[in-house]
Parts: sequence; C-alpha cells; structure tokens
Amino acid sequence: MKRSFIREILESITPETISFAGGLPDEHLFPHEALRTSANRILSDPSHLQYSTSSGILPLREQIAAIYSGQGFETHADNILITSGSQQALDLLSRHYRDRSITIESPSYLGAMGIFALNHLHTDAITLEHDGITINPFAQSLERTQLTYLIPDYQNPTGRTYSLEKRKVIAAQVQKHNAILIEDGPYSDLFFESRQPAISAMIPDRSYHLGSFSKTLAPALRIGWIRASEALLRPLLIHKEAMDLHTNSLTQYILFDYLSHGDQYATHLKNLRKHYAKKRKAFSEALTKYLPSFVFEKPKGGMFIYGRLPGVDTAELVKMSLKKRVVFVPGNEFYGEGRGMDEIRFNFTHPNTEATIRGIKILANCL
Ligand SMILES: Cc1ncc(COP(=O)(O)O)c(C=O)c1O
Repeated sequence: MKRSFIREILESITPETISFAGGLPDEHLFPHEALRTSANRILSDPSHLQYSTSSGILPLREQIAAIYSGQGFETHADNILITSGSQQALDLLSRHYRDRSITIESPSYLGAMGIFALNHLHTDAITLEHDGITINPFAQSLERTQLTYLIPDYQNPTGRTYSLEKRKVIAAQVQKHNAILIEDGPYSDLFFESRQPAISAMIPDRSYHLGSFSKTLAPALRIGWIRASEALLRPLLIHKEAMDLHTNSLTQYILFDYLSHGDQYATHLKNLRKHYAKKRKAFSEALTKYLPSFVFEKPKGGMFIYGRLPGVDTAELVKMSLKKRVVFVPGNEFYGEGRGMDEIRFNFTHPNTEATIRGIKILANCL
C-alpha cells in the first residue's frame, strides 16, 4: 500500500509553509484553559490513572448517549463504544468486515480507503453528486455488497451534504437489502445553517454512526466513538480488546469533566461554527478574487472547499507550489487511478485570512 500523500505533505510542512492540505482545526479556538482546568481536577485523583474498561468509561458514554437522545436519536450508554479517534472505529469495522465488498462514495476519505485496502475490503466506488451519492448505481451496488460507508455531512473531501430526500432513500435501500450502513460524521456538528438528521437514526439496528471530538474540541485527545445496537457492538469489542485494551482513559476522564461543567461545550461549538463560517467566507472570496478559474461550491459546514481548475494537472501544480511553500491536496488522491486530475481540496479552517490570501495569490502565480 502506498503511503498517504497527506502524511507525506504534513511531514514536509515547515513553519513557513501555508498549508491548505490537512483537515486541521484552528488551534487558536481550542478551549485549552478549560481543558487544563479539567485535567488538573482529574489528575488530583490517582484512581484516574488506573486501567479501565474496553468500551470506555461509563460517564462519558452516558454523556455521548445523552447528546444523541437530545437530538431525537434515542441512545443509551450501552450503544456507545469509545475509540481512539474515529480512525480506530474505521479500523475496528474493517477488521470485522475483512474480505467483504463495500460500497463507498467517489471521491471518499483517504484514511478510510487506506484501511479498507489494508483489510482486503473490496471497494465499489459510486459517484457522489452535489446532494449525495448517485442513487441507482448505489442501490445496485448495495444489493451485491450489503455494506456501505458514507460521510453524509460536509463530506471529506468534497464538503457536500446529502439532501433529506437522499437520506431517506438510502435508509430505505439499506433496509430493503438487509445491508449495514457505516455513517461517518466527524464534521456533523460543524454546520453553518442547520443540523441534518443522521441516516443512522432512520435505521438504528442496521447502522454504525461514527463520531469524534477531533474536529470540535482537539484531535490530540484522540477520542471518538461508535454508536450502534448492542448486537452490532459486541463483536467489535473483541477487536478493541486485542488492539489496545481500552482508549486512553485519562483523556476520557478529562473530556467527561469538561463536558459536565455547565454549558461550556455548547458555547464553544456555537463560537466554532461562527468562526469557521467567517473563514469559509474569507476563503471563498479570496478564491473568487485571486483564482477566478477555480470552479467550486460553497460548503454549508465542515472544513473543506472542493472544486476544479479546468484543464490543469493539480498534482503538477502542487509540486510547483510546494517549492513556494504552499500546499493543498490534489483531487486525484481521493479517487482510484486517473480521476479528479484537475480537482483540488482546500482546508479553510486552519490558515488565517492573511495567509489564505497570500497562499492563493502564490497559487495563481504558479498557474
Ligand atoms: C471522514 C473522516 N473520518 C474519520 C477521520 C478521523 O478522525 P479522528 O481519528 O481524528 O477522529 C477523519 C479525519 O480527518 C475524517 O475526515
């Protein structure tokens, strides 16, 4: 398996590089003072340094369950398995469904495609349209695979969001074919207009819903989770125990403490959405002004702006721009071979506005 282009890029980034590449949050918005207070409280009790249970600490699972239930998706602590980021959730699921076929979006999340390949899952990639996956080929594929992996909210890499109609059709198709949905939602809380209902809520016994605190709080916590029926979670626990016994319980306790103190998380999320919506606006305006040949849709949330530079080989462009210390991810990385050659994914949440404008001007110069 080839090494991830994103990993290589992240490693070649110096403090001078303007990076539009990784899906990085803005570290100026991390609630680090509140997390420090929680960490101090938690570390004052040595029992928090002991081994813990494989499914995760109960009070955190209860809090996550309550967040789902508050959104109308009835959930209990027994429906939650805490993982080391949602990346580990994908690894657990890939091990469980090893050697199967799986219907995915094209383009899709690089990190998932890598794990699927590693665990010999054969991917059937179906074109992602502006309002979600293309339904007819999806239904035909699902009949064969009975397993699908989708990112319906502010998708990585395209930033696209599924329409309510498509969400309903997909739920009905999963039901009809006795299939299983893996719904990945690390960006679901980063909406700029309104929250979309999870497809999993329509088929709670036939779905895994994956969540993460990486994009909303801090990726270094490495706390994600899987929401599923107890029957679906049970076999995953065996893989989880084998992998790492349990997710870092110190960061689980810190997170639990942070979440249980007033409404600081809700306030933080509101602030985050407001700032990211502003950054999306600034990034879009800079693209329109300095790189007018770039054709793109404005995302309604998340972290990415995706689009095309018609007729330009963007893999060549990034080689050139890297020399001038500007990086992005060329679209081809998110497909199988030979597609998306003139496409680009930009991350708009990490760079500040000054760097954004300077970086886009440098790209225009390279062109
Ligand atoms: C769609 C998607 N799933 C999962 C992940 C993994 O995130 P984490 O392991 O930090 O929760 C990412 C990270 O970029 C992602 O974009």
